[in-house]
Amino acid sequence: PIPVILDCDPGHDDAFNILLAAAHPAVELLAITTVAGNQTLEKTTLNARRVCSVAGIRGVPIAAGRDRPLHGPRRIAENIHGPSGLDGPGIGVGEPEVRQDPRDALTLVRETLLAHPEPVTLVPTGPLTNIAVLLLAHPELVPRIERIVLMGGSTGRGNTTPAAEFNILCDPEAADIVFRSGLPVTMLGLNATHQVRATPEVVARIAALGTPLSGLCVGLLTYFASTYRKVYGFDAPPLHDPLTVAHLIDPSLVGLVRASVTVELTGTHTRGATVVDLHGVTGTPADTEVGMEVDTDRFWDLIVEAVRVLGSR
Ligand code: BDR
Ligand code: CA
Repeated sequence: PIPVILDCDPGHDDAFNILLAAAHPAVELLAITTVAGNQTLEKTTLNARRVCSVAGIRGVPIAAGRDRPLHGPRRIAENIHGPSGLDGPGIGVGEPEVRQDPRDALTLVRETLLAHPEPVTLVPTGPLTNIAVLLLAHPELVPRIERIVLMGGSTGRGNTTPAAEFNILCDPEAADIVFRSGLPVTMLGLNATHQVRATPEVVARIAALGTPLSGLCVGLLTYFASTYRKVYGFDAPPLHDPLTVAHLIDPSLVGLVRASVTVELTGTHTRGATVVDLHGVTGTPADTEVGMEVDTDRFWDLIVEAVRVLGSR
């Protein structure tokens, strides 16, 4: 299996990525680290613990990372993910069964990378603060990293400003460090993730599993659908983050092109935009893999199967 560290800000779609990574035999989930993003660090960390608790995911350490971006204001996505960051079905009250690792995220990732015999794939699905801090603090660990497969950016328009996608806008300087790191980076942005919509048919397939976990998943998707309808007018919400792990499991699921990707740091109206040179007009090296067309049926098969497997344990 592919050794993976998830760095996330759960978040409805992050929660499904945790389920997929934990359930699929092609992935060895070594650790989960959290970052401020969809909600405060305190809430995203609690949510990661709640997801693992209700899904029976045990033995995967969960550590908290950065509570703010390298520069600029803190921003959350309460309009999409609610006051808890994971609103909808109520996935627990009080202290979740799964504890928080006493180490901070940087220490957990460092120790995990050093302990694993092979290079590890990093999968960030929130703002890139933790990953940038890792690369700045521990350049000697770069050879221990196989590649970075991230959800963020877009080849086209944004979702949080007209130009910028949420994860990149939350911490553009961190994103800039990641894209210029020299590591192999695969970017799964809005142009790809907007193809995977949790339609009523998808929700019905999950509901039909008939387990407590599937009921919670239906609740999460129903809440997510309501906010995406209200904020963006979408008929069905895009389940962005699990496209990362789905791509790892089945590399043919997302069509990729190579392009140069730069992060706009200064633009008056465009800070946080990913400038993707699809036609090679800048002459800058096409060193990033960029997700394009998605086989949505196979994506949803993976998600439904993950909920089935974890729910029947
Ligand atoms: C990204 O922003 C967050 O709200 C989602 O979890 C996803 O990672 C989509 O722009
Ligand atoms: Ca996320």
